[in-house]
Amino acid sequence: MRISDPSRYRRTFLKSLGATAAWLTLGRLGHAAEPTPDGTPATLRQAAGPGLLVGAGVMSRQLDDPQLGPLVAREFNCLTAENEMKPLSVQPEKGRFDYGPADRIVEFVEKHEMKLVGHNLCWHQQSPPWMYQDDAGNPLPREQALVNLRAHIDTVVGHFKGKVIGWDVVNEAISDKGGEYLRDTPARRALGDDYIAKAFEFARAVDPDAQLYYNDYSNENPDKRQKTLRLIRELKDKGVRIDAVGLQCHFQTKYPDAPRILNEAVAAYAAEGVKVMLTELDVDVLPRATGGAEVGTRERTGSNPYKDRLPADVARIQAGYYANVIRVVRQHPGVVTRVTFWGTHDGTSWLNDWPVRGRTNHALLWDRDLKPKPAYGAVLKGLTVSLEPNRRP
Ligand code: XIL
Repeated sequence: MRISDPSRYRRTFLKSLGATAAWLTLGRLGHAAEPTPDGTPATLRQAAGPGLLVGAGVMSRQLDDPQLGPLVAREFNCLTAENEMKPLSVQPEKGRFDYGPADRIVEFVEKHEMKLVGHNLCWHQQSPPWMYQDDAGNPLPREQALVNLRAHIDTVVGHFKGKVIGWDVVNEAISDKGGEYLRDTPARRALGDDYIAKAFEFARAVDPDAQLYYNDYSNENPDKRQKTLRLIRELKDKGVRIDAVGLQCHFQTKYPDAPRILNEAVAAYAAEGVKVMLTELDVDVLPRATGGAEVGTRERTGSNPYKDRLPADVARIQAGYYANVIRVVRQHPGVVTRVTFWGTHDGTSWLNDWPVRGRTNHALLWDRDLKPKPAYGAVLKGLTVSLEPNRRP
Protein backbone atom coordinates (compact mmCIF):
# COMPACT_ATOMS: atom_id res chain seq x y z
CA MET A 1 0.00 0.00 0.00
CA ARG A 2 2.70 2.50 0.87
CA ILE A 3 4.44 4.19 -1.98
CA SER A 4 8.11 3.36 -1.96
CA ASP A 5 9.04 4.26 -5.56
CA PRO A 6 10.00 7.97 -5.35
CA SER A 7 8.99 8.86 -8.91
CA ARG A 8 5.58 7.35 -8.33
CA TYR A 9 5.35 9.25 -5.07
CA ARG A 10 6.15 12.48 -6.95
CA ARG A 11 3.49 11.76 -9.56
CA THR A 12 0.93 11.00 -6.91
CA PHE A 13 1.95 14.04 -4.91
CA LEU A 14 1.49 16.28 -7.96
CA LYS A 15 -1.91 14.76 -8.53
CA SER A 16 -2.84 15.45 -4.95
CA LEU A 17 -1.85 19.08 -5.43
CA GLY A 18 -4.22 19.02 -8.39
CA ALA A 19 -6.87 17.67 -6.06
CA THR A 20 -6.42 20.58 -3.70
CA ALA A 21 -6.65 23.05 -6.61
CA ALA A 22 -9.79 21.33 -7.85
CA TRP A 23 -11.30 21.60 -4.42
CA LEU A 24 -10.51 25.30 -4.25
CA THR A 25 -12.20 25.93 -7.58
CA LEU A 26 -15.26 24.13 -6.28
CA GLY A 27 -15.15 26.53 -3.36
CA ARG A 28 -18.13 26.30 -1.13
CA LEU A 29 -20.54 25.08 -3.78
CA GLY A 30 -22.85 22.40 -2.61
CA HIS A 31 -22.92 19.92 -5.45
CA ALA A 32 -21.21 16.56 -5.20
CA ALA A 33 -17.75 17.12 -6.58
CA GLU A 34 -16.59 14.92 -9.41
CA PRO A 35 -13.01 13.71 -9.43
CA THR A 36 -10.72 15.94 -11.48
CA PRO A 37 -10.41 14.95 -15.17
CA ASP A 38 -7.29 12.87 -14.47
CA GLY A 39 -9.21 10.95 -11.82
CA THR A 40 -7.58 12.55 -8.78
CA PRO A 41 -9.93 12.71 -5.81
CA ALA A 42 -11.34 16.15 -5.06
CA THR A 43 -13.04 15.36 -1.75
CA LEU A 44 -12.26 13.31 1.33
CA ARG A 45 -14.83 10.67 0.46
CA GLN A 46 -13.38 10.23 -3.01
CA ALA A 47 -9.84 10.11 -1.62
CA ALA A 48 -10.78 7.53 1.00
CA GLY A 49 -11.82 5.12 -1.74
CA PRO A 50 -13.26 1.68 -1.04
CA GLY A 51 -12.43 0.01 2.25
CA LEU A 52 -12.25 3.18 4.33
CA LEU A 53 -15.17 5.27 5.51
CA VAL A 54 -14.53 8.92 6.24
CA GLY A 55 -17.00 10.47 8.62
CA ALA A 56 -17.97 13.40 10.79
CA GLY A 57 -19.79 13.85 14.06
CA VAL A 58 -22.77 16.14 13.49
CA MET A 59 -25.81 17.70 15.12
CA SER A 60 -28.99 17.44 13.05
CA ARG A 61 -29.49 21.21 12.79
CA GLN A 62 -26.09 21.60 11.13
CA LEU A 63 -27.35 19.53 8.21
CA ASP A 64 -29.97 22.18 7.44
CA ASP A 65 -27.36 24.92 7.18
CA PRO A 66 -27.26 25.99 3.52
CA GLN A 67 -23.46 26.00 3.44
CA LEU A 68 -22.56 23.28 5.90
CA GLY A 69 -25.12 20.66 4.82
CA PRO A 70 -23.79 20.47 1.24
CA LEU A 71 -20.20 20.40 2.48
CA VAL A 72 -21.00 17.41 4.72
CA ALA A 73 -22.69 15.57 1.85
CA ARG A 74 -19.80 16.28 -0.50
CA GLU A 75 -16.88 15.43 1.78
CA PHE A 76 -18.04 12.54 3.95
CA ASN A 77 -19.63 9.16 3.42
CA CYS A 78 -20.44 8.38 7.03
CA LEU A 79 -21.97 10.30 9.94
CA THR A 80 -22.11 9.86 13.68
CA ALA A 81 -24.68 11.69 15.78
CA GLU A 82 -22.55 13.85 18.04
CA ASN A 83 -25.21 13.82 20.77
CA GLU A 84 -28.63 12.94 19.43
CA MET A 85 -28.53 9.14 19.71
CA LYS A 86 -27.10 9.04 23.24
CA PRO A 87 -29.31 7.43 25.90
CA LEU A 88 -30.37 10.77 27.43
CA SER A 89 -31.39 12.11 24.02
CA VAL A 90 -33.42 9.14 22.81
CA GLN A 91 -34.98 8.12 26.13
CA PRO A 92 -35.05 11.23 28.34
CA GLU A 93 -37.79 9.78 30.53
CA LYS A 94 -38.52 6.18 31.25
CA GLY A 95 -40.52 4.78 28.36
CA ARG A 96 -40.60 8.07 26.40
CA PHE A 97 -38.47 7.81 23.29
CA ASP A 98 -37.60 10.81 21.17
CA TYR A 99 -36.09 10.09 17.78
CA GLY A 100 -36.84 13.43 16.09
CA PRO A 101 -33.32 14.87 15.70
CA ALA A 102 -31.74 11.47 15.10
CA ASP A 103 -34.27 10.65 12.40
CA ARG A 104 -33.33 13.90 10.65
CA ILE A 105 -29.77 12.59 10.47
CA VAL A 106 -31.05 9.25 9.14
CA GLU A 107 -32.97 11.09 6.41
CA PHE A 108 -29.86 13.07 5.38
CA VAL A 109 -27.71 9.97 5.33
CA GLU A 110 -30.19 8.12 3.13
CA LYS A 111 -30.56 11.03 0.74
CA HIS A 112 -26.81 11.35 0.27
CA GLU A 113 -25.92 7.66 0.22
CA MET A 114 -23.90 7.82 3.38
CA LYS A 115 -23.54 5.42 6.31
CA LEU A 116 -24.59 6.10 9.88
CA VAL A 117 -22.94 4.96 13.11
CA GLY A 118 -24.99 4.66 16.30
CA HIS A 119 -23.39 6.46 19.25
CA ASN A 120 -24.05 5.07 21.87
CA LEU A 121 -26.06 2.57 23.91
CA CYS A 122 -24.39 2.57 27.32
CA TRP A 123 -22.25 5.32 28.84
CA HIS A 124 -21.72 6.94 32.24
CA GLN A 125 -22.38 10.39 30.71
CA GLN A 126 -25.48 11.76 28.96
CA SER A 127 -27.56 8.85 30.25
CA PRO A 128 -30.75 9.20 32.32
CA PRO A 129 -29.98 8.48 35.99
CA TRP A 130 -33.09 6.30 36.52
CA MET A 131 -31.66 3.68 34.20
CA TYR A 132 -29.24 2.43 36.85
CA GLN A 133 -30.09 4.37 40.03
CA ASP A 134 -33.01 5.00 42.38
CA ASP A 135 -34.15 8.51 43.32
CA ALA A 136 -31.62 8.68 46.13
CA GLY A 137 -28.80 7.85 43.74
CA ASN A 138 -28.32 4.29 45.03
CA PRO A 139 -27.71 1.52 42.52
CA LEU A 140 -30.86 -0.27 41.38
CA PRO A 141 -31.12 -4.01 42.07
CA ARG A 142 -29.40 -5.90 39.24
CA GLU A 143 -32.61 -7.35 37.80
CA GLN A 144 -34.23 -3.93 37.54
CA ALA A 145 -31.20 -2.31 35.91
CA LEU A 146 -31.00 -5.22 33.51
CA VAL A 147 -34.64 -4.69 32.50
CA ASN A 148 -33.91 -0.99 31.87
CA LEU A 149 -30.77 -1.66 29.85
CA ARG A 150 -32.52 -4.33 27.81
CA ALA A 151 -35.59 -2.17 27.19
CA HIS A 152 -33.40 0.70 26.03
CA ILE A 153 -31.33 -1.43 23.70
CA ASP A 154 -34.31 -3.40 22.35
CA THR A 155 -36.24 -0.25 21.53
CA VAL A 156 -33.44 1.96 20.23
CA VAL A 157 -31.54 -0.68 18.26
CA GLY A 158 -34.90 -1.86 16.93
CA HIS A 159 -35.77 1.66 15.79
CA PHE A 160 -32.50 2.14 13.91
CA LYS A 161 -32.29 -1.40 12.57
CA GLY A 162 -31.21 -1.35 8.92
CA LYS A 163 -30.36 2.34 9.22
CA VAL A 164 -27.07 2.14 11.08
CA ILE A 165 -24.05 0.08 10.10
CA GLY A 166 -22.97 -0.39 13.69
CA TRP A 167 -23.22 0.73 17.30
CA ASP A 168 -20.84 2.01 19.91
CA VAL A 169 -22.43 -0.47 22.29
CA VAL A 170 -20.47 0.60 25.35
CA ASN A 171 -18.57 3.88 25.63
CA GLU A 172 -15.66 4.56 27.99
CA ALA A 173 -15.97 1.63 30.41
CA ILE A 174 -12.26 1.35 31.14
CA SER A 175 -10.60 3.12 34.05
CA ASP A 176 -7.99 5.83 33.57
CA LYS A 177 -6.42 4.87 36.90
CA GLY A 178 -3.31 2.73 36.86
CA GLY A 179 -4.01 -0.69 38.35
CA GLU A 180 -7.80 -0.35 38.02
CA TYR A 181 -9.46 -2.27 35.20
CA LEU A 182 -13.03 -1.01 34.82
CA ARG A 183 -14.31 2.45 35.63
CA ASP A 184 -16.74 2.93 38.51
CA THR A 185 -20.02 3.79 36.75
CA PRO A 186 -23.73 3.72 37.63
CA ALA A 187 -24.27 0.80 35.24
CA ARG A 188 -21.45 -1.23 36.77
CA ARG A 189 -22.55 -0.50 40.34
CA ALA A 190 -26.01 -1.83 39.58
CA LEU A 191 -25.17 -4.69 37.24
CA GLY A 192 -21.64 -5.77 38.02
CA ASP A 193 -18.75 -6.16 35.59
CA ASP A 194 -20.76 -8.12 33.06
CA TYR A 195 -22.89 -5.11 32.13
CA ILE A 196 -20.58 -4.74 29.15
CA ALA A 197 -21.16 -8.28 27.92
CA LYS A 198 -24.90 -7.92 28.52
CA ALA A 199 -25.09 -4.74 26.44
CA PHE A 200 -23.31 -6.46 23.54
CA GLU A 201 -25.55 -9.54 23.79
CA PHE A 202 -28.73 -7.46 23.85
CA ALA A 203 -27.66 -5.39 20.85
CA ARG A 204 -26.69 -8.44 18.83
CA ALA A 205 -30.00 -10.12 19.56
CA VAL A 206 -31.97 -7.17 18.17
CA ASP A 207 -29.88 -6.40 15.10
CA PRO A 208 -27.50 -9.24 14.23
CA ASP A 209 -26.41 -7.41 11.07
CA ALA A 210 -25.16 -4.32 12.90
CA GLN A 211 -21.48 -4.18 13.77
CA LEU A 212 -20.74 -3.91 17.47
CA TYR A 213 -18.01 -1.62 18.79
CA TYR A 214 -16.35 -0.81 22.08
CA ASN A 215 -15.39 2.90 22.06
CA ASP A 216 -13.05 4.83 24.36
CA TYR A 217 -10.55 7.69 24.59
CA SER A 218 -6.78 7.36 25.20
CA ASN A 219 -7.03 3.65 24.43
CA GLU A 220 -4.04 3.90 22.11
CA ASN A 221 -1.87 4.51 25.19
CA PRO A 222 -0.17 1.38 26.56
CA ASP A 223 -1.97 1.19 29.92
CA LYS A 224 -5.51 1.60 28.60
CA ARG A 225 -4.61 -0.46 25.54
CA GLN A 226 -3.70 -3.45 27.74
CA LYS A 227 -7.00 -3.16 29.61
CA THR A 228 -8.92 -2.86 26.35
CA LEU A 229 -7.18 -5.94 24.96
CA ARG A 230 -8.17 -7.75 28.14
CA LEU A 231 -11.79 -6.68 27.68
CA ILE A 232 -11.82 -7.85 24.06
CA ARG A 233 -10.36 -11.23 25.09
CA GLU A 234 -12.84 -11.63 27.94
CA LEU A 235 -15.78 -10.85 25.68
CA LYS A 236 -14.57 -13.28 23.04
CA ASP A 237 -13.90 -15.99 25.65
CA LYS A 238 -17.53 -15.68 26.71
CA GLY A 239 -18.67 -16.00 23.10
CA VAL A 240 -19.74 -12.35 22.95
CA ARG A 241 -19.27 -10.85 19.49
CA ILE A 242 -17.27 -7.63 19.21
CA ASP A 243 -16.37 -6.41 15.73
CA ALA A 244 -14.24 -3.35 16.31
CA VAL A 245 -12.61 -1.13 18.83
CA GLY A 246 -13.23 2.59 18.49
CA LEU A 247 -10.31 4.88 19.29
CA GLN A 248 -11.70 8.35 19.85
CA CYS A 249 -8.38 10.07 19.05
CA HIS A 250 -8.95 13.40 20.77
CA PHE A 251 -5.38 14.53 20.22
CA GLN A 252 -3.43 17.63 21.25
CA THR A 253 -0.61 19.25 19.30
CA LYS A 254 1.41 19.25 22.53
CA TYR A 255 1.70 15.45 22.34
CA PRO A 256 3.36 14.89 18.96
CA ASP A 257 4.13 11.26 19.83
CA ALA A 258 0.51 10.13 19.77
CA PRO A 259 0.43 9.06 16.08
CA ARG A 260 3.42 6.77 16.67
CA ILE A 261 1.70 5.26 19.72
CA LEU A 262 -1.49 4.95 17.69
CA ASN A 263 0.39 2.94 15.09
CA GLU A 264 1.50 0.41 17.72
CA ALA A 265 -1.99 0.25 19.16
CA VAL A 266 -3.62 -0.45 15.80
CA ALA A 267 -1.21 -3.35 15.26
CA ALA A 268 -1.98 -4.74 18.74
CA TYR A 269 -5.74 -4.55 18.22
CA ALA A 270 -5.46 -6.07 14.75
CA ALA A 271 -3.56 -9.00 16.27
CA GLU A 272 -6.52 -9.53 18.60
CA GLY A 273 -8.77 -9.96 15.58
CA VAL A 274 -10.86 -6.80 15.71
CA LYS A 275 -11.16 -3.92 13.27
CA VAL A 276 -10.07 -0.46 14.38
CA MET A 277 -11.94 2.80 13.86
CA LEU A 278 -10.78 6.33 14.61
CA THR A 279 -14.10 7.57 15.87
CA GLU A 280 -13.80 11.15 17.15
CA LEU A 281 -10.62 12.58 15.67
CA ASP A 282 -9.66 16.17 16.45
CA VAL A 283 -6.40 17.99 17.22
CA ASP A 284 -6.61 20.54 20.04
CA VAL A 285 -4.27 23.53 19.70
CA LEU A 286 -5.12 25.30 22.99
CA PRO A 287 -3.32 24.84 26.31
CA ARG A 288 -5.07 22.67 28.89
CA ALA A 289 -4.14 20.59 31.89
CA THR A 290 -6.63 17.76 31.29
CA GLY A 291 -5.57 14.79 29.22
CA GLY A 292 -7.94 12.28 27.62
CA ALA A 293 -11.54 13.25 26.97
CA GLU A 294 -13.64 12.67 30.10
CA VAL A 295 -16.53 15.06 29.49
CA GLY A 296 -17.16 15.31 33.25
CA THR A 297 -13.76 16.92 33.83
CA ARG A 298 -13.80 20.72 33.74
CA GLU A 299 -11.18 23.43 34.00
CA ARG A 300 -12.60 26.70 35.30
CA THR A 301 -10.21 28.95 33.42
CA GLY A 302 -7.72 28.71 30.63
CA SER A 303 -6.01 31.07 28.24
CA ASN A 304 -7.54 31.74 24.86
CA PRO A 305 -4.58 32.76 22.69
CA TYR A 306 -6.10 32.40 19.19
CA LYS A 307 -9.36 34.32 19.67
CA ASP A 308 -9.09 36.15 16.36
CA ARG A 309 -7.35 33.62 14.17
CA LEU A 310 -5.12 30.60 14.13
CA PRO A 311 -1.50 31.66 13.44
CA ALA A 312 -0.06 30.14 10.28
CA ASP A 313 2.73 28.30 12.12
CA VAL A 314 0.27 26.60 14.47
CA ALA A 315 -1.97 25.70 11.52
CA ARG A 316 1.06 24.10 9.86
CA ILE A 317 1.97 22.10 12.95
CA GLN A 318 -1.61 20.91 13.20
CA ALA A 319 -1.64 19.92 9.52
CA GLY A 320 1.53 17.89 10.05
CA TYR A 321 -0.13 16.19 13.01
CA TYR A 322 -3.16 15.23 10.94
CA ALA A 323 -0.85 13.98 8.18
CA ASN A 324 0.86 11.66 10.67
CA VAL A 325 -2.48 10.30 11.87
CA ILE A 326 -3.70 9.65 8.33
CA ARG A 327 -0.41 7.93 7.51
CA VAL A 328 -1.17 5.47 10.32
CA VAL A 329 -4.66 4.91 8.92
CA ARG A 330 -3.22 4.12 5.50
CA GLN A 331 -0.57 1.80 6.95
CA HIS A 332 -3.27 -0.59 8.11
CA PRO A 333 -5.59 -1.15 5.15
CA GLY A 334 -8.41 -3.53 5.94
CA VAL A 335 -7.81 -3.02 9.67
CA VAL A 336 -8.60 0.66 10.08
CA THR A 337 -11.93 0.80 8.30
CA ARG A 338 -13.18 4.24 9.33
CA VAL A 339 -11.88 7.63 10.33
CA THR A 340 -14.43 10.05 11.76
CA PHE A 341 -13.71 13.69 12.63
CA TRP A 342 -15.51 15.07 15.70
CA GLY A 343 -17.17 17.95 13.93
CA THR A 344 -16.77 19.78 10.63
CA HIS A 345 -15.67 23.42 10.84
CA ASP A 346 -13.83 24.78 13.88
CA GLY A 347 -16.95 26.48 15.20
CA THR A 348 -18.68 23.11 15.59
CA SER A 349 -15.99 21.55 17.78
CA TRP A 350 -16.86 20.49 21.32
CA LEU A 351 -13.35 21.71 22.25
CA ASN A 352 -14.63 25.30 22.18
CA ASP A 353 -16.38 24.35 25.44
CA TRP A 354 -14.29 21.55 26.89
CA PRO A 355 -12.47 21.34 29.21
CA VAL A 356 -12.68 25.16 29.46
CA ARG A 357 -15.95 26.80 28.47
CA GLY A 358 -16.17 29.54 25.88
CA ARG A 359 -12.79 29.47 24.15
CA THR A 360 -11.99 29.73 20.46
CA ASN A 361 -10.46 26.42 19.43
CA HIS A 362 -9.30 25.40 15.97
CA ALA A 363 -9.29 21.62 16.14
CA LEU A 364 -10.83 20.58 12.81
CA LEU A 365 -10.32 20.73 9.04
CA TRP A 366 -12.29 23.85 8.07
CA ASP A 367 -12.20 27.30 9.63
CA ARG A 368 -15.32 29.12 10.76
CA ASP A 369 -15.86 30.54 7.26
CA LEU A 370 -15.82 26.97 5.92
CA LYS A 371 -12.50 27.55 4.23
CA PRO A 372 -10.31 24.44 4.18
CA LYS A 373 -7.36 24.78 6.54
CA PRO A 374 -3.88 23.36 5.93
CA ALA A 375 -5.15 20.39 7.99
CA TYR A 376 -7.74 19.68 5.28
CA GLY A 377 -5.09 19.67 2.57
CA ALA A 378 -2.94 17.34 4.66
CA VAL A 379 -5.76 14.88 5.19
CA LEU A 380 -6.85 14.93 1.54
CA LYS A 381 -3.28 14.41 0.42
CA GLY A 382 -2.63 11.72 3.01
CA LEU A 383 -5.67 9.77 1.90
CA THR A 384 -4.87 10.30 -1.79
CA VAL A 385 -1.19 9.47 -2.08
CA SER A 386 -1.69 6.15 -0.39
CA LEU A 387 -4.34 4.95 -2.79
CA GLU A 388 -3.11 2.52 -5.37
CA PRO A 389 -4.11 3.56 -8.91
CA ASN A 390 -6.46 0.61 -9.33
CA ARG A 391 -8.25 1.51 -6.10
CA ARG A 392 -9.03 5.05 -7.22
CA PRO A 393 -12.71 5.84 -7.16
C1 XIL B 1 -19.33 15.33 23.40
C2 XIL B 1 -20.06 16.25 22.43
O1 XIL B 1 -19.20 16.56 21.37
C3 XIL B 1 -20.52 17.49 23.15
O2 XIL B 1 -21.35 18.26 22.28
C4 XIL B 1 -21.30 17.11 24.40
O3 XIL B 1 -21.62 18.27 25.12
C5 XIL B 1 -20.53 16.16 25.27
O4 XIL B 1 -20.13 15.03 24.52
N1 XIL B 1 -16.38 11.24 24.07
C6 XIL B 1 -17.52 10.84 23.42
C7 XIL B 1 -18.40 11.84 22.82
O5 XIL B 1 -17.75 9.63 23.28
O6 XIL B 1 -19.75 11.47 22.86
C8 XIL B 1 -18.23 13.21 23.47
O7 XIL B 1 -19.01 14.13 22.74
C9 XIL B 1 -16.79 13.61 23.53
C10 XIL B 1 -15.97 12.60 24.29
